[in-house]
Amino acid sequence: MTKPFFLPLLSLLLALPFSSQSPENPNPNPPTAAHVELTRYGFPIGLLPASVRAYTLNETSGDFSVDLGGSCRITLPPDNYLATYSKKVKGKIVQGRIAELDGIRVRALFKWWSITGIKSSGENLVFEVGVVTAKYPSKNFDESPECEGKHSSS
Ligand SMILES: *[C@@H]1O[C@H](CO)[C@@H](O)[C@H](O)[C@H]1NC(C)=O
Repeated sequence: MTKPFFLPLLSLLLALPFSSQSPENPNPNPPTAAHVELTRYGFPIGLLPASVRAYTLNETSGDFSVDLGGSCRITLPPDNYLATYSKKVKGKIVQGRIAELDGIRVRALFKWWSITGIKSSGENLVFEVGVVTAKYPSKNFDESPECEGKHSSS
């Protein structure tokens, strides 16, 4: 006995985009101007949570400041490190390099560590915690994460 109702179901499944890397987040947020700015400097949008309220960038010095509207907690791929973003994240950005970063911390080895800088080679991101670095494929950061511990709605 054939089951013809499988056919429309199958074509529906095939029509779904397979590009999404996180099935638990089927509606990725559209990038804000700050996210677009990140990509201009060679970084993936997933470095910033979706909840960007405002940002400033001095294109001469590279000094930037991102207002997230409140502190924010997310889980970083691929190793599921817990990370917190301060209400305000600041630093200095040039092509492929973020330095003097202030406002992003990750939980590892039972301690909170401040991420002080991030380098991008296009293919990979290198996170700097003081003199310690950790390298991850940039494609893990293709989507802006949703804040888990948001203090205000957006
Ligand atoms: C941008 O940075 C440059 C170089 O540090 C500085 O001279 C200028 O005053 C800054 N502009 C603003 C609007 O802060």
